Amino acid sequence: MNKDQAPVLICKDLCISYYTRAGEIPAVVDFSLTVKPGETIGIVGESGCGKSTVAMAIMRYMGANGGIKSGSITFKGRDLTQLSESELRSIRGAEIAMIYQEPFASLNPSLKIKTQLMEVPLAHENISKDEARQRAAQMLSDVNLPDPERMMESYPHQLSGGQQQRVVIAMGLLSNPSLLLLDEPTTALDVTVEAGIVKLVADISKKFGTSQIYISHNLGSPGQNTPTPTAFLPVSRCRRRIKMRHR
Ligand SMILES: Nc1ncnc2c1ncn2[C@@H]1O[C@H](COP(=O)(O)OP(=O)(O)O)[C@@H](O)[C@H]1O
Ligand SMILES: [Mg+2]
Repeated sequence: MNKDQAPVLICKDLCISYYTRAGEIPAVVDFSLTVKPGETIGIVGESGCGKSTVAMAIMRYMGANGGIKSGSITFKGRDLTQLSESELRSIRGAEIAMIYQEPFASLNPSLKIKTQLMEVPLAHENISKDEARQRAAQMLSDVNLPDPERMMESYPHQLSGGQQQRVVIAMGLLSNPSLLLLDEPTTALDVTVEAGIVKLVADISKKFGTSQIYISHNLGSPGQNTPTPTAFLPVSRCRRRIKMRHR
């Protein structure tokens, strides 16, 4: 992947606040970040320093009480802070996919894995159900899940946490996103499966050329818990100024 190409994402001087009854909480202050094609950037910082806030801001999922105060988020040349909700819908999930800490929360417990996976290409591309099924099964094998055919017929609760997270990653990849946001994707998993997911994420970046932002709270040994990072943002760049008051 040519790293000299135009960046996929540029966050510039982002300031993000939450508004509560206790007042304004400046969760992220002057945060800047550039991600080039095929590059993995790690964001490392202690819990509460604003990592998820940055990821949610990139998805423009700030919730009712959050807002981007200033700065820009330029994705493939377009400032996401200026886009309408319908323009954002065509980008979210399709061009930018997000993987959360807790895989089960990203899956619908009442639908078989195949139904959830097939929905992605069926929603984004003009293809037949048969093709969608094939793509889904292939992606399950690409994320190194054993026996993809059996997985396809399973419900989420029949899978282990590590398998669920692989399914969620497969789902994210099915739309062939340019950017994958991984917000502490191994935190809810056993340490024994963590290494496998980290390796998978690194393999995906190589195989699909997906740019990635990998968020981790592990300051002790970030190198071990994030895949081949090219940059780490010091906590001081990703900070909050005041503490939230307890109500
Ligand atoms: N919806 C919210 N309302 C008010 N404050 C919030 C909200 N979400 C997060 N915060 C506050 O913003 C700060 C950053 O949170 P977060 O981005 O979740 O941190 P991290 O992901 O690094 O643990 C924290 O102080 C947190 O308490
Ligand atoms: Mg977080």
